[in-house]
Amino acid sequence: MERAENVVRVNDPIANVVADTHARHRSNDSGAVADYIPQLAVVEPDRFGIAIATVNGRLYTAGDADHPFTIQSVSKAFVYCLALELVGREAVLERVGVEPSGDVFNAIEFDPRTNRPYNPMVNAGAITTTGIVHSVAGSGTFDLILDKLSLAAGRRLEIDEAVYRSESETGHRNRAIGHLLRNAGAIDGSVDEIVDCYFRQCSILVTATDLARMGATLAHIGTNPATEEQVFDVQAVRNTLAVMFTCGTYDFSGSWAYDVGVPAKSGVGGGICGVVNRQLGIGTFSPRLDRMGNSVRGVATFIDLANELGLHVFDCSNTGSSVIRTLIR
Ligand code: DON
Repeated sequence: MERAENVVRVNDPIANVVADTHARHRSNDSGAVADYIPQLAVVEPDRFGIAIATVNGRLYTAGDADHPFTIQSVSKAFVYCLALELVGREAVLERVGVEPSGDVFNAIEFDPRTNRPYNPMVNAGAITTTGIVHSVAGSGTFDLILDKLSLAAGRRLEIDEAVYRSESETGHRNRAIGHLLRNAGAIDGSVDEIVDCYFRQCSILVTATDLARMGATLAHIGTNPATEEQVFDVQAVRNTLAVMFTCGTYDFSGSWAYDVGVPAKSGVGGGICGVVNRQLGIGTFSPRLDRMGNSVRGVATFIDLANELGLHVFDCSNTGSSVIRTLIR
């Protein structure tokens, strides 16, 4: 898995916007790190990194862009893409919906119309998605997930064993959701194995740079721009981006679509991965979260980048070609 290094740091308008945005939000210490998983509470709260990876292989970074943290719920988007690829859209839709839940990520609820989880970005839907992969890959499920995410990042990823153990020791709510899913027929087979894979996928270590590259892989319709490896199926990418757009930041998803306007997925480890279709991926890392579970500085960074670089999908300040499209040509 070769990765072309093409790091741009100075004398470039995008690099300046990234550096300025980092400087503007560096001193914001509002929010609190997640502590419902004990090992998440030991992160360094002041860490703050931003990375942008373009579909033509350029990388822009600021701050702690190479500091590792656990991917947590950002994994849900990529595992959903994998599940779509493995069994196809119809089989996935039979088990998990695509409607925003308007509720917290770990809510114990199904869509009353279908008796299925609302969407793959909340825990119930994500455990279902991991269950779909498990129905195909069995005991090889986690290795398959790790391989896919590594290909998307363009480097071999690994797990944070301490976070995994902590998550497994305290994950009773997720186990309860797993058993309810099994009872409802949304997952088959061993609940323990499926939930264990879910805990492991959440414990994969990434950096903001990795998230930017993973986002760029989706932006580049499934091909990693740095390694040029085809990672995801085109149709699966389209469906994944749609769900990231409507459900990727939990009960903040409406405000996110309004103010940022790009598909994204957040995680309680402090990461956010955003996708500007056909243009770039954005990764941010800052562990202090707002009350909805999204990174405070991450949200602020995305709002600024969207405004300054014209990233919002419905931005009409330019005629269909954003600032970025012009700059990365
Ligand atoms: O299910 C959990 O509790 C976590 N492992 C993942 C949660 C997460 O990141 C939700 N996020 N915002």
